Amino acid sequence: MALWGGRFEVGVATSTQEFGASLPVDKHLYREDIAGSKAHAAMLACQGIISDADALAIRDGLDAIKEDIEAGAFTFSVDDEDIHMAIESELTRRIGEAGKRLHTGRSRNDQVATDTRLAAKHLAGQLMEATLKLGRVLVETAESHSGAILPGYTHLQHAQPVLLAHHLLAYSWMFKRDFDRQKNAFDAADACPLGAAALAGTSYPLDRRMTAFELGFTGVIPNSLDAVSDRDFLLDLQYACSVCAMHLSRLAEEIVLWSSSEFGFITLSDAYSTGSSIMPQKKNPDFAELIRGKTGRVYGNLMQLLVTMKGLPLAYNKDLQEDKEGMLDSTHTLLQCLDVMAGMISTATFNEDVMRRACDRGYLAATDVADYLAKRGMPFREAHAVVGHLVLVCEKRGCDLVDLTSEDFKQASNLFGDDIAGALDIESIVAARTTEGGTSPKAVAQQLKLCRTAIVAAEAMLELVHTHDAMNR
Ligand code: ARG
Repeated sequence: MALWGGRFEVGVATSTQEFGASLPVDKHLYREDIAGSKAHAAMLACQGIISDADALAIRDGLDAIKEDIEAGAFTFSVDDEDIHMAIESELTRRIGEAGKRLHTGRSRNDQVATDTRLAAKHLAGQLMEATLKLGRVLVETAESHSGAILPGYTHLQHAQPVLLAHHLLAYSWMFKRDFDRQKNAFDAADACPLGAAALAGTSYPLDRRMTAFELGFTGVIPNSLDAVSDRDFLLDLQYACSVCAMHLSRLAEEIVLWSSSEFGFITLSDAYSTGSSIMPQKKNPDFAELIRGKTGRVYGNLMQLLVTMKGLPLAYNKDLQEDKEGMLDSTHTLLQCLDVMAGMISTATFNEDVMRRACDRGYLAATDVADYLAKRGMPFREAHAVVGHLVLVCEKRGCDLVDLTSEDFKQASNLFGDDIAGALDIESIVAARTTEGGTSPKAVAQQLKLCRTAIVAAEAMLELVHTHDAMNR
């Protein structure tokens, strides 16, 4: 009979027992459950609700159970519906009477909400660490290729030349925002539901602030109904995961393109590529593709939780049990993706000469030629048309703008002088884009400084998060 079996005449059917159980998923939350129970028992004793001797027996019993779980010496029984029941019934088997007093002034409803929040905080911290690591790799890669130039694209067509460092730093900003979103998710989980009990609070003189503090929470949730039924913090975490997965997927897509023979901009390390079972020549960017592919399941988990939460009346409903699998899956998936991406980038070879040669195709200088005319008095719109015509001439001759003679230019407009060659030089084009946030080496060096500062700030933030979290591990 289950721990709640008092008012039942027969036990649940085997099929419903299995259907209703969450143990296969929430057993991963054993650390959080034990930390929550230890804090609760200590508070009960402080408030004179249970004896100090009982609280000590509970604490030692829980520590021993934790050790056994970690040593693989704990057998979970199918009779236990969830991790809360599994640990409580084992505790009672081990220490007797005192174990039965642990659940005083508590319900599994505030217990599971507490465990889940602790787990969400821990996972958010891990994601922050992995995201920061990838950010660092991108910044370091940008720094070590500071002179490389490649075509910048719009619509996947050659547009204007940009520094490789500039391109890579664009991703580092995405991951900086992901880090912030992960921290937001950490903060959203950072309030303690314990003491809400089943839904309405309890008549025992609990000290909610004590348990909250003990568990590293910043405060308590002010409404008991909200405390047991809110899962917004998981939606925040899932959303943070989804956006980060999207950024990884975009970067992965560029890696797939760049490593193709058409582009040839990068060569992946063998350690981050696979071969084909039939085509001996193949070297495939499987892991970049897989990162792109995993995005789907992360989005799926966000959508699943949104739909699960929709229309739930207050307060606890068993539907809420469906909240943890997606959290574990999305965070685990993303941690792997972040790690693989960091390794893939840091071991890749960036073929600077191939990138530079690609800049000689696709009329990358066209905007600058138009600017040349506009700076000599021609309205930009007219200049645009003149250069458009020159591009057409090139198309017909099968050449690029650099191959045109100064006669060709002068024929198109008498504003062109012999110095037009300067406007066609890729390095000068890049160097001229000095706007704040632009692609000139000077502006990119400024940007790198900002990135470095952001990384230092993120490191400090992460340390704070880890200190909080260490309390419950
Ligand atoms: N296994 C449950 C869950 O994950 C724990 C809470 C159960 N509460 C209850 N009243 N049935 O949500």
